[in-house]
Amino acid sequence: MRALIKHHAGPGLRFVSDRPRPIPGPRDVLIRVKKVGICGTDRHIWEWDEWAAGRIPVGIVTGHEFVGVIEAVGSAVTNYRPGLRVSAEGHTTAWKDYNSRTGSAHIASDTKIIGIDRDGCFAEYVCVPEENVWPVHASIPDRVAAVLDPLGNAVHTVMAAGVSAKSVLVTGTGIIGLMAVTVARAAGAGRIFATDIDPRRRALAKRLGAVEAFDPRDGGWIEEVRRACRGEGADVLLEMSGAASALNQGFEALRNGGVAALLGIFKKPEPFDFNRLVIFKGCTVLGVNGRKMFETWYQMEELLLSGRLELDDIITHEFALEEFEKAHQTMIRGEGIKVVMDVG
Ligand SMILES: NC(=O)c1ccc[n+]([C@@H]2O[C@H](COP(=O)([O-])OP(=O)(O)OC[C@H]3O[C@@H](n4cnc5c(N)ncnc54)[C@H](O)[C@@H]3O)[C@@H](O)[C@H]2O)c1
Ligand SMILES: [Zn+2]
Repeated sequence: MRALIKHHAGPGLRFVSDRPRPIPGPRDVLIRVKKVGICGTDRHIWEWDEWAAGRIPVGIVTGHEFVGVIEAVGSAVTNYRPGLRVSAEGHTTAWKDYNSRTGSAHIASDTKIIGIDRDGCFAEYVCVPEENVWPVHASIPDRVAAVLDPLGNAVHTVMAAGVSAKSVLVTGTGIIGLMAVTVARAAGAGRIFATDIDPRRRALAKRLGAVEAFDPRDGGWIEEVRRACRGEGADVLLEMSGAASALNQGFEALRNGGVAALLGIFKKPEPFDFNRLVIFKGCTVLGVNGRKMFETWYQMEELLLSGRLELDDIITHEFALEEFEKAHQTMIRGEGIKVVMDVG
């Protein structure tokens, strides 16, 4: 089959056309891939940074965001049949530990992620455990179904924080931050404020419903948000940049007793003033990892079916799988926001 593989311990990926098709185990589902999304994680894998070098097994097929059609099922699979259009939760677990057995499988201790720890979806076929399959509703188009994974990150963060009738600050309106703006709006948020260093992303955040989008390099915005929110600060912070300065600014702009949901991943451990920004503020800090299995997926489907999410301007480019070099560079150079590749 055609596939993109991490062929060596260095930058880039290689396109091959002779990768053996994966063989589903008894409880696996084999999916013929239609469309895939390129994630920030794929950028790390492409660039082969320290994280990628320490985590990614050389030789795997990369990619974890996709939609496809079931081609075949293992002998013990009972719930699914070939022909069904599906996506899948990319975090797999053996369902043996405390969290996976008590409704929090997204933080299982044995998580293995497709396209990161095991073969992923930048290929004609991908295999996932039956439990991970998510049947896609007929009215959700392929280009949206291909990016349910990051949309799920946004939905998980917004729902964890609770935004209804609250003032919300989103620091970092990249792929997931922009999705969070439209999700928060659909979920009944009050005013949404945003920050990003990229003017095009700030403009898009405003188009999607942010009342104001600030350049974080001019720190004056913090006072402006506080002033706008009774002089106290925003009710909710959604940190979606992974930048240490954004984390600090976000907490400065959060009111005492506010809720901060942190999704952005910092490149290294960062110093942080817990006394002033968390303890004396009495705020609640939530770490957000992945998507809840499968509460987030149900919420996401309902929000999509409501017609209130605006994703068209976030999914900016589509390329054929064979144009993977151009597709990855479009994303890495920041020309594209969410870049999708057509596989079959
Ligand atoms: N916790 C999880 O499960 C999970 C899952 C996926 C991604 N992530 C992380 O979430 C973050 C967002 O992911 P993404 O795919 O949207 O990435 P992205 O690169 O598309 O978005 C990050 C945005 O932050 C902006 N930014 C950079 N510095 C900033 C600053 N100082 N202030 C404000 N904005 C700033 C960038 O311009 C960019 O638009 C990343 O850190 C990613 O690693 C976490
Ligand atoms: Zn992703």
